[in-house]
Amino acid sequence: MHFRTRAQRCVFAANNNMTFEIKDNQGYAILRPDEVPDGLAQAVIDEVMPKIQNIDIKEFQKTAYKPYLLNILKATDFSRDSAVYKLASHPRIVDSVSRYLKCYPILTSIAVLYSPNEAKEEQGSQKYHLDHEDLRQVKAFMLINDVDEDCGPFTFISAEYSDAVQTKIGYKMDGDEKRVEDEGIYSIVSKEDAKSLMGPAGTLGLVDASRCFHYGSRAGKKPRIMLTFQYLTPFAYVMPWNWRQRQFLTHLRSEDMSSRERKLLGVDI
Ligand SMILES: [Fe+2]
Repeated sequence: MHFRTRAQRCVFAANNNMTFEIKDNQGYAILRPDEVPDGLAQAVIDEVMPKIQNIDIKEFQKTAYKPYLLNILKATDFSRDSAVYKLASHPRIVDSVSRYLKCYPILTSIAVLYSPNEAKEEQGSQKYHLDHEDLRQVKAFMLINDVDEDCGPFTFISAEYSDAVQTKIGYKMDGDEKRVEDEGIYSIVSKEDAKSLMGPAGTLGLVDASRCFHYGSRAGKKPRIMLTFQYLTPFAYVMPWNWRQRQFLTHLRSEDMSSRERKLLGVDI
């Protein structure tokens, strides 16, 4: 079964749609709004803003699992003809992700996250860590508002420097040791080498959260709003052996899906 999946997903034709590269040693790529294909940066902002305008953030915070990172819109808030899905399924994005993962990915989640950036005490994902769904993955982050250093930006260390940190500190992906204090990171990597996802609304970051140490939503003067979506391969640790039964983002399925979409949504192997 896995052999068939590899044959279907992990062998590429020479001419694909890749227009930018997530370099192996870097583990990330950042696109300015004008580099995002088909004017989708502005289209996504225009789509998301009206949906979040009337959300009562204070009310939302009362029941939130992470009060510093609120999941204000879910995947089901975006239909198959939404700009958000057009972006997440865009051949140029998906093919660049495929090249990096060496496998055609499955789109496993979509959400809009709101960070109030109020809390002074850092906890959870506000500290440096790696995500452990797999050895490699790609998380996409599109800024919905303009983000500068006062907005608790998503901050990360390139894959090659993160590798050095993992080796030097004997990093473990579980338990309390999953989080690393800043001092631990900056004793190995220069603070100037940490990258922050900042810029005008519509800026798109694609980051391997399994290879690049990262944190976000720290205290700031202004809130931050980000669209996020995730690509995993069928071979990820978190995927069950019968991954096609797991049924990702089923509301985006339709009768007339292309073969690319059928793969992306995990309908076909
Ligand atoms: Fe994370």
